[in-house]
Amino acid sequence: MTTSEIRGDVIDVLVADHRDVTALIANIRSVADPMIRRDLTDTAISELVRHAVAEEMYVYPVMREYLADGEKAVAHDIEEHNELERTMKRLEAVDVSSADFDEALGKLEALLADHVQDEEGEQFPELRQRVPAEKLTELAGKVETAKKLAPTRPHPGAPNSELFHKVVGPGVGLVDRLRDKLKGRVTR
Ligand SMILES: [Fe+2]
Ligand SMILES: [Fe+2]
Repeated sequence: MTTSEIRGDVIDVLVADHRDVTALIANIRSVADPMIRRDLTDTAISELVRHAVAEEMYVYPVMREYLADGEKAVAHDIEEHNELERTMKRLEAVDVSSADFDEALGKLEALLADHVQDEEGEQFPELRQRVPAEKLTELAGKVETAKKLAPTRPHPGAPNSELFHKVVGPGVGLVDRLRDKLKGRVTR
């Protein structure tokens, strides 16, 4: 995908990610079937890891450079990403019908709401103010490309499910394997 095919700038892309993952997590609650719960959970994990890695690779360096208190904002955000990942690792490891799962899911929802609030409430508006529009548009393409480096959905029924399982595989270790894949530390 070229930059010209992407609508909006990098902030639009990241805000859309926030909406999608939040909706996906809310969906998990409405589903009782354990297999569908597992699929939705793995999909939410996959989306959120891709989002976080893309932010770290392309957006946080720009925040460091342009924001008034960029170093501090990025340090805070990365700590939040770490907490999100710890919680996602709990979700990949526990039975989706257990009380542990519900507890971890609630925690993930709360952490994600914080993450969205920090970025959309403060950091993204400041980025829009300080960073040249052209650069934000160019970053949209980079973020979309970075996210595509790993297949999207672990769903058995999804079009690229076979590829996902070949490259990443579901279950315990998903968060780490996906992160490695996205950062190019794993070639197969
Ligand atoms: Fe984000
Ligand atoms: Fe973030």
